[in-house]
Amino acid sequence: MGILDENKHLEDLDKRYIWHPFTQMKDWLDEKPIIISEGRDCFIKEIYGRWYLDGVSSMWVNIHGHRKKEIDDAIKEQIDKISHSTMLGLSNVPAIKLAEKLVKIIQGSSKTKPSNPQTLEPLNPLLLSKVFYSDNGSTSVEVALKMAFQYWIHRRVDGKVTFLSLNNAYHGDTLGAVSVGGIDTFHKVFSPLLFRTYDAPSPYCYRCELELSYPDCKTACLERMGDALRENSSEIAAVIIEPIVQAAGGMIVSPPGYLKGVRDLCTKYNVLMIADEVATGFGRTGRMFACEHEDVVPDIICLSKGITGGYLPLAATITTDEIYNVFLGKFKELKTFFHGHSYTGNPLASAAALACLDIFEKEETLKNLQPKIEILENWLKEISDVPHVGDVRNKGLMAGIELVKDKNTKKPYPLEEKIGWKVAYHARENGVFIRPLGNVVVIMPPLSISIENLQQLLKVIKDAIIAVM
Ligand SMILES: Cc1ncc(COP(=O)(O)O)c(C=O)c1O
Repeated sequence: MGILDENKHLEDLDKRYIWHPFTQMKDWLDEKPIIISEGRDCFIKEIYGRWYLDGVSSMWVNIHGHRKKEIDDAIKEQIDKISHSTMLGLSNVPAIKLAEKLVKIIQGSSKTKPSNPQTLEPLNPLLLSKVFYSDNGSTSVEVALKMAFQYWIHRRVDGKVTFLSLNNAYHGDTLGAVSVGGIDTFHKVFSPLLFRTYDAPSPYCYRCELELSYPDCKTACLERMGDALRENSSEIAAVIIEPIVQAAGGMIVSPPGYLKGVRDLCTKYNVLMIADEVATGFGRTGRMFACEHEDVVPDIICLSKGITGGYLPLAATITTDEIYNVFLGKFKELKTFFHGHSYTGNPLASAAALACLDIFEKEETLKNLQPKIEILENWLKEISDVPHVGDVRNKGLMAGIELVKDKNTKKPYPLEEKIGWKVAYHARENGVFIRPLGNVVVIMPPLSISIENLQQLLKVIKDAIIAVM
């Protein structure tokens, strides 16, 4: 078979055998699929040899680029030792080293080198220090929810059986995560299967649910959360929130002080705070974790996506000793946290994550990000004058451009117009791969993108928006 026939055969096989996620397959069957065969730096190559700039980091996971030598080598080295063994009743070397590194980074220690056994520093019981592994963002959230729920049972506090979450929230696709989700398009159909939760307004200033404007509103959405907690905290185990950016909800950036306000409310009303940093973690917002922007320490943090640099599935739910300690007891007390997945703490993924975190230090990834963020922010200011650009928002290298039918009335495009997709397809014609969220054009390239490639990405997207509008 010639190469062209082989490629055509692959396309046919894809359509015959694969059901793609979050994809209307009827549309997919009518399209020519892009099938990726290779990647390098910020680019991905499809089977016919065309390269695309990876404008959404292969679904928000890639950090240091594709085929990053240090991560490639770490995985190869680990393969020569062992690829997987279970964490149920056993441990493994990379998972242990990674747990230490994650805790040190998260506790803000500058010393992230492996510790000397003679000088293990005591850990602050109120800071995040115990790592529970799983293998994707949704499961990291399931773990957090079950952990928070069971914590109150062991504390003998009755009735804290549900959660408070935000409108426009997205925490994953498993049923617990969907229960605390708040995006009707994705979640409503499953409502008969979900547990009941309390909700609070989304801090979505461009389309304020309370019809107020920031800053005159004095973050009234936070007050509403306070009202819900005051009335119902006896039933609420935890508040779950995507700190600073509600990502899948449309890159909704919360106003300054909002996150800190949520932390204060959780403390005031004696509910745990779960920070879902699956999307925002590992430098995306310009700091290692989004919580750092407002000096917030949650009781539980969920990490995944960028943890391995976008190489392998891995997640970590990290909590405090204070929470961990209430699960300790005699075997017969059944205080055990009965949760665990087959690939929990996978050694290959842990080795990739260790290499990914080393690169952050070695290449000063966060420091080098700052000029890129500035370029993005200047460009966003420019593009906000373009007709039909209703709102632009970003934190760090996560950005959303909300397109509207009418700029004065903020009238949205009907979903069926697929305006975000039209922009994405246009960009694709010009060598940039992006994936929108409804009417919001998303920009989230790997943190390692060069300034030149970032400028190229932004130019293609601007041209696409102008052309489609
Ligand atoms: C904030 C947040 N939480 C959880 C998830 C779910 O992660 P996964 O797709 O790895 O299950 C996502 C995915 O986009 C996310 O953005």
